[in-house]
Amino acid sequence: MNSYAGLPDKIKTYVNDWKAKKGSLIMILRYIQDYYGYVPKNTSFILAKELKIPLARIYEVLTFYNYFKLERPAKYRISVCMGTACYLKGAREILDGVKALNNPHFTVEQVRCMGCCGLAPTVKINEKAYGKLDKDKILEILEELC
Ligand code: FES
Repeated sequence: MNSYAGLPDKIKTYVNDWKAKKGSLIMILRYIQDYYGYVPKNTSFILAKELKIPLARIYEVLTFYNYFKLERPAKYRISVCMGTACYLKGAREILDGVKALNNPHFTVEQVRCMGCCGLAPTVKINEKAYGKLDKDKILEILEELC
């Protein structure tokens, strides 16, 4: 009998569907990441117990892949592209400007090429991409959000 106490039914079902399959840990963690927007600590504890794997193995995966987040994201997730094209066109100044706001509604992260180098420098706010930015433009956009 399994006891996924505290986990939503959708996650329990997903874990049950995947746990016997090869490579299931990443698939399960990815589902949890998509469900919550991060992987809560208590969920990792429950998974370790139910999948009978060391908690350290789960954290090994969570900390290896940039995709996984360990903290609940703020309302706005700001991804500043630091790929070569964006970097050469001022991404560092944009990143520093956004970080300096120190706004609790913003989670700021650096990402690699977002695949729209022609619009460099680029920033994604949640799922919306903005291009041809400079520090002043991104600060204006962020000010309008709050
Ligand atoms: S380097 Fe930023 S989108 Fe490609």
